[in-house]
Amino acid sequence: MSTQNSQPSIFSSDPTTLNPQRFLVTGALGCIGAWVVRNLVREGTPVAVLDLASNPHRLRLILSDEELARVQFIAGDITDLAAVEAAFKDSAATHVIHLAGLQVPFCKADPPLGARVNVVGTVNIFEAAKRAGLKRVAYASSIAVYGLSDEYPEGPIPHDAPLKPRNHYGVYKQANEGTARVYWLDDGISSVGLRAYTVYGPGRDQGLTSSPTKAMLAAAAGRPFHISFGGRCAYQFADDVARAFIHAARAPFEGADVFNLRGSVAHMREVVAAIESAAPEVKDKITFDDKPLPFPEDMDDAAFTHALGRISETSLTDGVRQTIDIFRRALAEGKISAGN
Ligand SMILES: NC(=O)c1ccc[n+]([C@@H]2O[C@H](COP(=O)([O-])OP(=O)(O)OC[C@H]3O[C@@H](n4cnc5c(N)ncnc54)[C@H](O)[C@@H]3O)[C@@H](O)[C@H]2O)c1
Repeated sequence: MSTQNSQPSIFSSDPTTLNPQRFLVTGALGCIGAWVVRNLVREGTPVAVLDLASNPHRLRLILSDEELARVQFIAGDITDLAAVEAAFKDSAATHVIHLAGLQVPFCKADPPLGARVNVVGTVNIFEAAKRAGLKRVAYASSIAVYGLSDEYPEGPIPHDAPLKPRNHYGVYKQANEGTARVYWLDDGISSVGLRAYTVYGPGRDQGLTSSPTKAMLAAAAGRPFHISFGGRCAYQFADDVARAFIHAARAPFEGADVFNLRGSVAHMREVVAAIESAAPEVKDKITFDDKPLPFPEDMDDAAFTHALGRISETSLTDGVRQTIDIFRRALAEGKISAGN
């Protein structure tokens, strides 16, 4: 991956003349979005961020100030269609990746707000894409659309298994998959939804499955940490997930489909072993509740590969090592504290 440090600010002149591709990424002040932005900036593709928040602390963890200066930031709420339309216009977007949303604990705490942001917000993205004349949307769905492991046959869960969400967040994600399908049927807007499971890496500091990354941050600071769940599940390195979204947004895919992302399927004890290998000073200090998450532990990603091709993946050991290295640097530079 090359850094194009000599490139001037992409917004210093007519934005449409510099690069035929321009990305709008919603929720890009969050974890996955920060990695999407990093990948796009480093390949020299113009990118605009639409987010309700204003603090780019996750982006600062993984981008230099000079790289950050090349990003267009648009403050806005995806529940406001006019604001979303304005963001499409201001960014002159040719491609859109929709990641903004509220995670499981926030939807549980305030279901009406969760529905407004996750469901209405997603309808707004598709509607604005349609009005802007875009023909494709890539968006985040989730493992949470599935039911409990024992509701399915043994083995990795296929992408077209019946959806049986058990929490508000999963129900909202299922609704989004339906919204995407109807925008294809009615308006010919193609879409790819990607279902991640446990995303880890710098920037993953909130949500049901964020505690393995919090353990990596504690390890980088030489501190003990107790992870709130255990068992086996699929882990996806945030950089890999980001590249999958970029690939999906660019793919000449026609229709509306949703694919599982698999990554590395591992028991929490393997995650802890990877942490201890990258940070031997925390040996025996990273513990976990050996209580599995209420989702199938393995996901079949063959449909993604079949439809879109293969994306290179980072092994769990490498992903954990890279995460701890980035956290060590960020701690040393005072960009983050181990209490974060
Ligand atoms: N992290 C995971 O393990 C995981 C797994 C499966 C699916 N997903 C999905 O992927 C997407 C991105 O996940 P993440 O981990 O980067 O999330 P995150 O919580 O780190 O970031 C979400 C971003 O959305 C923004 N946002 C929230 N409400 C908004 C609104 N009304 N208008 C505009 N922006 C708003 C937030 O400010 C935040 O920057 C989400 O849709 C999430 O549900 C994540």
